[in-house]
Amino acid sequence: TSNLMWGGRFASGPAAIMEEINASIDFDRALYTQDIDGSIAHATMLEATGIISSGDRDAIIAGLTAIRGEIEAGTFTFSRALEDIHMNIEARLAETIGPAAGRLHTARSRNDQVALDFRLWVKTELKKTESALKTLIGTFVDRAEEHAGTVMPGFTHLQTAQPVTFGHHLMAYAEMFGRDLSRVRDALERLDECPLGAAALAGTGFPIDRHMTAEALGFREPTRNSIDTVSDRDFALDFLSASSICATHLSRLAEEIVIWSTPQFGFVTLSDAFSTGSSIMPQKKNPDAAELVRAKTGRINGALIALSTVMKGLPLAYSKDMQEDKEQVFDAAKSLELALAAMTGMVADLTVNKAAMKKAAGSGYSIATDLADWLVRELGLPFREAHHVTGRAVALASERGVGLEKLTLDDLRSIHEGITDDVFSVLSVTKSVASRTSFGGTAPREVRRQVRYWRKRLKKM
Ligand code: ARG
Repeated sequence: TSNLMWGGRFASGPAAIMEEINASIDFDRALYTQDIDGSIAHATMLEATGIISSGDRDAIIAGLTAIRGEIEAGTFTFSRALEDIHMNIEARLAETIGPAAGRLHTARSRNDQVALDFRLWVKTELKKTESALKTLIGTFVDRAEEHAGTVMPGFTHLQTAQPVTFGHHLMAYAEMFGRDLSRVRDALERLDECPLGAAALAGTGFPIDRHMTAEALGFREPTRNSIDTVSDRDFALDFLSASSICATHLSRLAEEIVIWSTPQFGFVTLSDAFSTGSSIMPQKKNPDAAELVRAKTGRINGALIALSTVMKGLPLAYSKDMQEDKEQVFDAAKSLELALAAMTGMVADLTVNKAAMKKAAGSGYSIATDLADWLVRELGLPFREAHHVTGRAVALASERGVGLEKLTLDDLRSIHEGITDDVFSVLSVTKSVASRTSFGGTAPREVRRQVRYWRKRLKKM
């Protein structure tokens, strides 16, 4: 038999495979509440503009409310033959309230309906992401304040570079996630236009009030162009690209946690709550949560590429290809939500092994730059020459198998005779970090300033 909703011109029903490739109900049922909200707003507007009677409006709203209850109670029967959530709900409405149900779809198409439902869903998800990011940034701020003076090695090329503080390193992530948060807000700002009333693509001849539905559904205003409204999914791409950049940041930190928690580094110990054991090696404590955060990034990046590939060849306006938008976004949203929560938990819980960090901070001639800077400051050497002199000091220390601070004054004077005893005052990791007082630098004082800045900013967000 032909389709109940659109089968007028059809003599027979779809092939089984057609039904299977076409139906989206298995996943778009997640949009049921948005769909019902949209339909209630639409019916209310249809009555207010004189398009349907108040009796029909009341019946429609009562019916939709009952259906929401059925879905939430798990008693609603979803049908694949009815393709998607929109037609499942409308068919049930017809069953429960009779012919008045048929008036709901006046001046509307599934094209603007799905654009609305999905936008509402993405909007909610962006808001969840926004608040998860705030919590994560707050966690960095707390831990950074605690470790504003904790010295660790800073790396470039994963080779020891210069001593930094752990608080400074954490605040680097606060900055990254702060930008992620602003990308989420930008996405929310752009998304905040209501698609309802664009109808199939051309708008409608019925005297609808799009400003009324936009306001009822919590949008700033209606979309301006009906063809654009049903054609684009860039609000979803905005969500996925913001998610992908955020996941990239999460993944880098996850990678650092994996490295830091190895016995070889031993900088941090993950809490038991965020670690797992091995079924064969009793000594193991594995950073599985960090590894999974790192891996979720692959899924999220994949979703971004999948959806942008779906969209890139579509002529305006709607094509069924766009039905493939939802699973990617649902999966990415779930992955991001989990990754943000797991990262927040790991960072809040991890134990910092200050002694191991400090020891590592002093290895690998990390204070060589401090010696070079001293030569510039105290002896007036050009930096390039100071660099060369320091290089020779490093070579000598390395020959002896000691740190720079363990060379004798005579050793140092054999390299440059102007060097005095005062040089030893800069040859320590603690002095090194304390000296980096430039704005945004690693000195504990500067890190505390960054912490204060973010505390204030978070409060206003
Ligand atoms: N299930 C469809 C989707 O997710 C709804 C819109 C269908 N519109 C249409 N003209 N077939 O995109």
